[in-house]
Amino acid sequence: MKLWEKGINPEPAIIEFTAGKDRKTDLALTKWDIIGSMAHVIMLEDVGLVSEDEKNGLLKALHSLFVWDEEGSLVIENDVEDIHSQIEKEMSSILGTTGKKIHTGRSRNDQVLVDIRLYTREEIDKLSVLIRNLFTRLQSLSEQYKEVLVPGYTHMQPAMVSSFGLWFGAYAECLADDVLLLTGARALNNQNPLGTAAGYGTTLPINRKLTSELLEFDDLLYNSAYASLSRGKIEMAIASALASVAQTLSRFSMDVCLYMTSEFRFIDFPDEYITGSSIMPQKRNPDVFELIRARANVLQTLPNQIAILTTNLPSGYNRDLQLLKQLIFDAFGEMRECIEIMLLMLNNIKIKKNITENPLYNSIFSTEEVNRLVKQGIPFRDAYKAVSEMVRNSTFSKTSLSDYVHEGSIGNLCNKEIAEIFENRMKSFKNKTAAELADKMMHHVTPPNSTNGGL
Ligand code: ARG
Repeated sequence: MKLWEKGINPEPAIIEFTAGKDRKTDLALTKWDIIGSMAHVIMLEDVGLVSEDEKNGLLKALHSLFVWDEEGSLVIENDVEDIHSQIEKEMSSILGTTGKKIHTGRSRNDQVLVDIRLYTREEIDKLSVLIRNLFTRLQSLSEQYKEVLVPGYTHMQPAMVSSFGLWFGAYAECLADDVLLLTGARALNNQNPLGTAAGYGTTLPINRKLTSELLEFDDLLYNSAYASLSRGKIEMAIASALASVAQTLSRFSMDVCLYMTSEFRFIDFPDEYITGSSIMPQKRNPDVFELIRARANVLQTLPNQIAILTTNLPSGYNRDLQLLKQLIFDAFGEMRECIEIMLLMLNNIKIKKNITENPLYNSIFSTEEVNRLVKQGIPFRDAYKAVSEMVRNSTFSKTSLSDYVHEGSIGNLCNKEIAEIFENRMKSFKNKTAAELADKMMHHVTPPNSTNGGL
């Protein structure tokens, strides 16, 4: 069954190739396709394109499909191209002629646009919860180990005194900025493309503002041709935000791999959380963090993949865009798995104490010594030269740690301030679940008594 069949039997190989992975990929969109259709039906009745009875019947049939999908019984059949076609087929078999009215004033092009936006909106919201868990864990580790010193590096050379408080807290603040990018992508995403049809609108008197309100979009995407163009642009914005989170995960994982080496030995994990070698009995390998690093690095290529897929595409719908779905849907799954396993590891991390007692790290106190002289009134450059001389002659020996008082230093981490910024940004992730939206749509079914008899 093809929605566009006109009496000529399409060549099966062509159908298989063009449907591609859609029969599987589109299942992630099923509930959103149904909810988008519910909003569309309510609007069609409001503007007089379907009757009240027809609206009631259509909404009830759509709701039964929603329930089937929740039970896992709704599938895309082999001779059906995609989820939009499957839903229309189901509606026609439940309601006959009335079911065929569901596509009035829309195209699969705006349907898929709205489905993807509703899907990604929920995925972003769900991801934000996981990011908050990771943020909270990093901040609590930062507080727990704020007194434990560790060398800070520049150029991979021991540089200055740092602490585990500063290290964990740095990645927490990193996530706070990633979340800001995610709120930006979410705001771009939360505009309604429904009603732009194939990309050039419709002569039917549809009410696009109504569907925007029903689906709880912030506003509508006005220009019909831009709605088509926005496919790829939205994915790019989301991918860039995901890539930023991925960068945070990847760099943290690299630090962990380095700090676990026998040369560093700053941190460790219980034996149950690390892996070994089939030949070298002594090996304790950080495979989990190596794989997070690799998977997060692949996630960082996502904006590039999207850029290349959409480069030189003319305006209007092009089938190339179909492949964007798989890329972006998979990315959410990858991200979720990486964060979940990282949380498990961080719940079991072991921190080594007294690292900076090792004479190897003597020199990281030299800048402290320069500052001590500066506080006594010696010009900075003279103090620097005097201490350099001591370091060169190996006469410099570690002094006690001075106070760090300014914001963001090891003595004043400002984790509370960072948490406040983070929580403020988190306020953007707040839409209803699919089930809540479906319930809300069902309130538009009018009770039998108030209609002229119902179906
Ligand atoms: N599977 C298609 C996609 O994801 C749905 C839209 C089909 N539109 C069309 N004009 N062939 O892009």
